Amino acid sequence: MNKFISPSLLSADFGNLQRDIEMINKSEADWFHIDVMDGVFVPNISFGMPVIKAIKKHAKKTMDVHLMIVDPDRFIEDFKKVGADILTVHYEVCPHLHRTIQAIKEQGMKAGVALNPHTPVAVLEDIIGDLDLVLLMSVNPGFGGQSFIENTYKKVEQLKALIDYSNSTALIEVDGGITDENIEKLSKVGVDAFVSGSFIFKSKNPSKTISNLKKLAIG
Ligand code: DX5
Ligand code: ZN
Repeated sequence: MNKFISPSLLSADFGNLQRDIEMINKSEADWFHIDVMDGVFVPNISFGMPVIKAIKKHAKKTMDVHLMIVDPDRFIEDFKKVGADILTVHYEVCPHLHRTIQAIKEQGMKAGVALNPHTPVAVLEDIIGDLDLVLLMSVNPGFGGQSFIENTYKKVEQLKALIDYSNSTALIEVDGGITDENIEKLSKVGVDAFVSGSFIFKSKNPSKTISNLKKLAIG
């Protein structure tokens, strides 16, 4: 089974973004995790289209775009244009989630849904068959560098059971507080893709940290 490491550029050095992108290109990472925050859904603002376009110019791997914005339907086409391969929206801001997912797929992108730590997995029961990815937030969205919420293990198990029961092909991604201390256990309970920001970029040798995370995930 494939395991994917998705370094979050939120913790990169924005003054040296190209250098950090090249590091990821050359590393054992699989995806680029791009966090888009609007200051409304989450209490922080990150970056938007011009920066993503600039990232895409250098990034040679899958662009895994995580939207923490209200009313994401307004921008689906724009995110495709700036290079998103996987587009993940939050369940909490999509009253017509089925329509949103179809619109993402119509643009030729993989469609993901993210759940906040308090949102139960069961809300996905009637949409799981349409999803390419489910992102479980293992911290409250908005900031890098927070600690992992332990209840996530239980949610991964519940999601795995729902996916298997529904014959869905959705991948399970976890995001927030991922380190060398929890990645192995998360992988064993069924996580496919791991977002890691501060643990990678604050380490002495980010490329080596990525290799080590990948090794632990593969087991
Ligand atoms: C948080 C973002 C995460 C964040 C993860 O809202 O969605 O992707 O960058 O950062 P760490 O790994 O530092 O918790
Ligand atoms: Zn994220």
